[in-house]
Amino acid sequence: MRSYKIAVLRGDGIGPEIIDEGIKVLEAVSEPEGFELDWIEYPQGADHFLATGELLSEATLKEVAGCAAIYFGCIGDPRLAPGVLEQGILLALRFYFDQYINLRPVKLLEGVRTPLAGKGPADIDISVVRENTEDFYIGIGGRVTGTGAGSTKNTLEILRSLYQVKFELDIETDADELAYQIGVLSRKGCERVMRYAFELAMEREKKLTSVDKANVLTHCYGFWREVFTEVAKAYPDVQTEFNFVDAITMWFVKNPEWYDVVVAPNMFGDIITDLGAMIQGGLGLAPGGNINPEGVSMFEPIHGSAPKYKGKNVSNPIATIWAGALLLANIGEKRASDRVITAIESVLKAGQVRTYDLGGSSKTSAVGDAIAQRIRAPE
Ligand code: IPM
Ligand code: MN
Repeated sequence: MRSYKIAVLRGDGIGPEIIDEGIKVLEAVSEPEGFELDWIEYPQGADHFLATGELLSEATLKEVAGCAAIYFGCIGDPRLAPGVLEQGILLALRFYFDQYINLRPVKLLEGVRTPLAGKGPADIDISVVRENTEDFYIGIGGRVTGTGAGSTKNTLEILRSLYQVKFELDIETDADELAYQIGVLSRKGCERVMRYAFELAMEREKKLTSVDKANVLTHCYGFWREVFTEVAKAYPDVQTEFNFVDAITMWFVKNPEWYDVVVAPNMFGDIITDLGAMIQGGLGLAPGGNINPEGVSMFEPIHGSAPKYKGKNVSNPIATIWAGALLLANIGEKRASDRVITAIESVLKAGQVRTYDLGGSSKTSAVGDAIAQRIRAPE
């Protein structure tokens, strides 16, 4: 029998309970489809960190490297400063496994209401391809204090001369404290994610929108545009356009039907996919795949850990279950993946079992049960 080892990191807050439902559904489909999933649990998250001081060790990463894929819940805990778990666990995994594509379907399923008046499932079906390893996420930056030597003033002078700022920076040079962060894009990093987006566009409607802010962050996103224009030459059948990130947030709301595949740098991709989640009916319905086509990929809901709902069995597990479907497609079980998505759609369309965020009062576990049941006995 085909068998796959899946690393499971449930994480914090509602992570454990939503992953329960994902596993339940994936188990339900694996049996009739004739394969086996071997879940390898890892305790990484806030509790583990507070108890042991460990975020994610090299040894753990090496072990996870032996798995077919990673199933990830969510992280974040009010006891820790923002960024500790995010960088130490989630970004560490994305970077270590070089998961350079973050694929986020923004699709309004039948039976779900969008807050956009007059729009329906036919209007909202966008694949956002977010670059996932570069840009402002690389963590290079610093903070400088003091007005003496090695001070804020010196730092600004150095940054200015290094980066040939054409006009005087509008920053108080006698400020006694400053912070800066540097975004970096590589040609290879841009090319690989753009090629993936073009390939996806070829399978879909042959329409691709590239997002940037080339009018202000000229160094990074001017480069992004240049590389996009180069890559586009290999795909003459794909219709392309550039959107500034501020403009695309507006058009996502006004005319989501214009979009099919969208490729965006890391930070803008992060921002527009939270907006995307809302127009597809809420964060409880938005999955994502962190993909390295040649390596180990990781699948997760795009929402956070919602600590206030932890253990209450009320959160919507559909984003996680849908992420599980993306995982199945990634390990080569495409038919099982389609069956999970069909079952999700069918439960949403029937409308009887839904969590509070969708206007219902069902438990998290009831949603998982209903979807697993639909897989066993489709209508
Ligand atoms: C996401 C999240 C992460 C990100 C955080 C938790 C690091 O917001 O997956 O969208 O910014 O990528
Ligand atoms: Mn985000």
